[in-house]
Amino acid sequence: MEVVIDRPEVLAALAADAVEAAIRRAPDAVLGLATGSSPLAVYDELARRHAEGLSFARARAFLLDEYVGLPPGHPEGYRTVIERDVVARLDLPSAAVLGPDGSAEDLAAACADYERAIAEAGGVDVQILGIGTDGHVAFNEPGSSLASRTRIKTLTEQTRRDNARFFGGDIDAVPRHVLTQGLGTISAARHLVLVATGRHKAEAVHQLVEGPVSAMWPASVLQMHPHVTVLVDPAAAGRLQLAAYFRETWAAKPAWQAL
Ligand code: GLP
Repeated sequence: MEVVIDRPEVLAALAADAVEAAIRRAPDAVLGLATGSSPLAVYDELARRHAEGLSFARARAFLLDEYVGLPPGHPEGYRTVIERDVVARLDLPSAAVLGPDGSAEDLAAACADYERAIAEAGGVDVQILGIGTDGHVAFNEPGSSLASRTRIKTLTEQTRRDNARFFGGDIDAVPRHVLTQGLGTISAARHLVLVATGRHKAEAVHQLVEGPVSAMWPASVLQMHPHVTVLVDPAAAGRLQLAAYFRETWAAKPAWQAL
């Protein structure tokens, strides 16, 4: 696990570097897209690079998760959010972007279909991730199996409170159920790039990087993955015991070594 502590704009550029490297290696790379506010600066940076010529025309992408029961096209449905924040600003074809179908009649079948689609695409090359204040990744709340696959989950009250800001501040408007890639699904991506900023993320980042691997802090499963980049600003790094070491390691990183 590599931990980089820097200003948010530097973090966004580093995450975009990882995506760009994957696209340059293979133009039909499979990207894993996250929602929430954390990746927005990364998408801004990708849009900037696209304006300068970086093409996503042959790339494919998978969303991490989706609310259950929002009508298709709802402005806060994750599919709509990704259309708005990513697809509309790149040349990534909308048809090449898939998400779990939270409005399906048979939700269990929709989850199985989604797992199959990811596998048929050859798996995710670079997965962008955020982290919830309770340590969730995607919508894998505390208690999630570390080996879980795409399935239905019930949101915690804290997550619904955190996300109420996207629903006019009304916690009752936040759906209770979601479909989410499991921790096992996410762990199968080849490179995981997690972005976290702000003091409210400091405890979750500490548990992710330095805590015991535990379903109580689902993001801690990333410790088991061979290629993880954790990008945090100084506020989110505020509880890291190894912060000085991470800074020293980054400053001394060999120039030939990629993220
Ligand atoms: C949401 C999403 C996660 C995201 C997290 C943090 O509930 N399902 O994918 O990482 O919460 O969101 P934010 O980046 O806005 O703090």
